[in-house]
Amino acid sequence: MQRNTAKHFLFALFAFLIAFSVHAEKLPNIMILATGGTIAGSGATSTTTVGYTAATVGVQQLINAVPELAKISNVTGEQVFQIASESMTNEHWLTLGKRVNVLLAQPNVDGIVITHGTDTLEETAYFLNLVVKSRKPVVLVGAMRPGTALSADGPINLYNAVLIAGSQEAIGKGVLVALGDQIHGARDVTKTNTSTPDSFKTPELGMLGYVQGPKAFFYHSTTRKHTVDSEFDISNLSALPQVDIVYGYANMNSVALNAFIAAGAKGIIHAGTGDGSVAAKVKPDLAAARKNGTVIVRASRVGNGILARNGEANDDELDFVVADTLSPQKARILLMLGMTKTSNTKELQRMFYTY
Ligand code: SIN
Repeated sequence: MQRNTAKHFLFALFAFLIAFSVHAEKLPNIMILATGGTIAGSGATSTTTVGYTAATVGVQQLINAVPELAKISNVTGEQVFQIASESMTNEHWLTLGKRVNVLLAQPNVDGIVITHGTDTLEETAYFLNLVVKSRKPVVLVGAMRPGTALSADGPINLYNAVLIAGSQEAIGKGVLVALGDQIHGARDVTKTNTSTPDSFKTPELGMLGYVQGPKAFFYHSTTRKHTVDSEFDISNLSALPQVDIVYGYANMNSVALNAFIAAGAKGIIHAGTGDGSVAAKVKPDLAAARKNGTVIVRASRVGNGILARNGEANDDELDFVVADTLSPQKARILLMLGMTKTSNTKELQRMFYTY
């Protein structure tokens, strides 16, 4: 009788150990690359939800603040930068993109989460969407409130991002953005509010899904090319061509345009009013800039809609490119990458209808 009990006990112990090791093996290996931002920020008091300092807390502290991560993944942290994202530069993007590609080429990395300030999060996400050479998930995450605030959103956003990065459903979907229990695609997501936690939206074109409980639910995916289907390769690049944005407004003049060109801009994104209209006062200077070799892309400051080619300007005659539905800040990224390959405006226009 006693021997039987011992046997049962040993059997149960083995079964538990096998189940435990199978479970442990199944957890995805997720790298968290930290770059700073409010998610790594701290304020003077628990009610400091604005006027705090971004980028003060290191990656290990971010991970330690969410012990639940250990139940869904094997996370490893790496501090890539520690900056507020308004100071993100092309050089930061090249460094980050190359690091992501190196890590994703390793068989023991299943996905990457990048913690990032929300101000330019959508730009970094779109840049990576065009240069990452892997189908493995890459998820950008930020927070609208610092970790010291009441109802800080960073910990749950980080948990959701790690969950998405480890999920089979996220594979091949392009670079994703996780905030407020929602999943957005890098191309179309934008920050829509200066300070509220529900700031990130994909207006009109639509977000991709939700995180609920322990699962990522997808409903849409982008039809535009990205990641492994992209033609852009940054592996040998140490800089990107200078492209600047000229903003349209009533009473606009050409001072900023001419200053950017004098400073060496190879491309200009004209963030025009309405459907990308160009003020009569500015049009001759924009046309002259193109004649002198600067690539001009007409975009819109409106935030939604397709920019009509040959609509508000005769783009064929002026040899301008139009930005399709891309915001000016994302058009800048595509033009920079496009110009690493060509200055041919027909080719560049093809890229704007492809990515
Ligand atoms: C930043 O973008 O680094 C500051 C703002 C934020 O993360 O919400």
